[in-house]
Amino acid sequence: MLTPERAIDRLRAAFGGPPGYRTLHAKGRFYTGTFTATPQATALGRAGHLDGEPHEVTVRWSNAGGEPRADGKPDIRGMAVKFHLPDGSATDLLGQTSPRFPTDDPEVLVAMTEASEKPHTLPLFLARHPGTIPTVVASFRAGAIGSPTSFADVTFYPIHAYGWLDAEGRRRWVRYVLRATATDADRPAETFSGPDRLTDEMAARLERGPVTHELWLQVAGPDDDPHHATSVWRGARELLAGRIVVTGEFPDPEGGPGTSTPVVFDPARVVDGIELSDDPILRYRPGAYSESVARRTTS
Ligand code: HEM
Repeated sequence: MLTPERAIDRLRAAFGGPPGYRTLHAKGRFYTGTFTATPQATALGRAGHLDGEPHEVTVRWSNAGGEPRADGKPDIRGMAVKFHLPDGSATDLLGQTSPRFPTDDPEVLVAMTEASEKPHTLPLFLARHPGTIPTVVASFRAGAIGSPTSFADVTFYPIHAYGWLDAEGRRRWVRYVLRATATDADRPAETFSGPDRLTDEMAARLERGPVTHELWLQVAGPDDDPHHATSVWRGARELLAGRIVVTGEFPDPEGGPGTSTPVVFDPARVVDGIELSDDPILRYRPGAYSESVARRTTS
């Protein structure tokens, strides 16, 4: 099994990014806003942020790669959301533009990331791991690996299933979709270029008004498998669980390398009313993220 330390060594080597930044999703900015759950979500989930009142969120939109300075090539994008509960606790959701995940083995994900950074090695990777091909095709079809003109136009997929407990303690397995709601009419008139084009574009939008992503739930059917990121759900029903309304950007609270106040989004950070599945990718991630955080805060 690939240790988190070795995974971070390999991922950092693949990108050659500078010290002091995230190993992946190195280029990103922080935003603030609110989340308000729908009555349907309140009925299904007893977690504190699902009570139908507006709760503060911290959002970070990012590029998936390990290079914090450039934005020159097609990439997956990320949207991380921290829901702040009234008791001071928080729960996190991390979404990417790819609607499906290629593997249940962290080592294959690391090898795939390495191969994507050296495109001439990608065919060999795919030949060795044919099981990942349908996901690669689905990602290209969904436009997940691209150069969007705005984070506001992009839909993000947090991939893993979580168990939602209702007030009576009944559990339902759910997956999330962070669906963009912006229309062409919301587009700023200016065009944006350069490495910060996406965050400049967002700044122009936010001057005119908030940016909303809807939080949709897929509720698993009886035969749907919640314990593997790769499983395709056939019996799921969908419902609108709430809205994330981003109102403004705020300066990077980390302040650069050596900071003592890192902001960590962790897919395993849950609160009462939400349970983790046994998904091996989900269970692996906290160790890798801790290792990345340790390195970016000490270098
Ligand atoms: C084995 C699988 C994975 C590994 C090894 C991995 C690794 C990492 C690492 C090392 C970071 C930087 C953490 C930090 O320094 O704070 C990161 C960030 C991130 N990852 Fe993953 N990741 C994996 C799977 C996923 C999946 C499945 C998703 C979403 C569907 C995802 C979404 C994100 C996002 C959005 C961020 C940026 C968080 C932020 O803005 O702080 N990752 N990942």
